[in-house]
Amino acid sequence: MAILKVARLGHPILRQVAKPVPPDEIRSPEVQRLIDDMIETMREYDGAGLAANQVHTARQIAVIEVLANPRYPDAPHIPLAVVINPVVTPLGEETEDGWEGCLSVPDMRGTVPRYRAVGLECYDRDGQTVSLIAKDFFARVIQHEHDHLNGIVYLDRMRDLSTLSHIAEWNKHWLGIREQAD
Ligand code: NI
Repeated sequence: MAILKVARLGHPILRQVAKPVPPDEIRSPEVQRLIDDMIETMREYDGAGLAANQVHTARQIAVIEVLANPRYPDAPHIPLAVVINPVVTPLGEETEDGWEGCLSVPDMRGTVPRYRAVGLECYDRDGQTVSLIAKDFFARVIQHEHDHLNGIVYLDRMRDLSTLSHIAEWNKHWLGIREQAD
């Protein structure tokens, strides 16, 4: 396993639409190794999720996990999920503003409206199809990672940039203000 370099805002790979992984390639050593490296990289940098574009590989793979994460101390736990070729469908019109950050936009936070509930269909790392309904923070992380795989970053989804904050200022002025979805 290896910790991969994370692309930061401005790197063109973050604006590419990732290519689907053919299902019969999911179990290949190359894809499995990429998944392992993405998990290790996400954990190393305390990400709640990581999309393959962020590690310079434009393939439709994302990993998600939240376990006692110092970057998101109040977030509910999400067990490790490997999400390949995701199809995300909003369930209902309801959206909620919540704070987000991104390993590709270091040390920043901003509020982003997201659907409260989404359906997710994808493959897991064994090539099995997964179909689930996600709500609240899990739904938020899925939407954030799904956006990455389509070349979109959370800044694009902000209604306005007035809450966009450096983490040091955020800790002083915003922490605990507005109901935190993350
Ligand atoms: Ni991100």
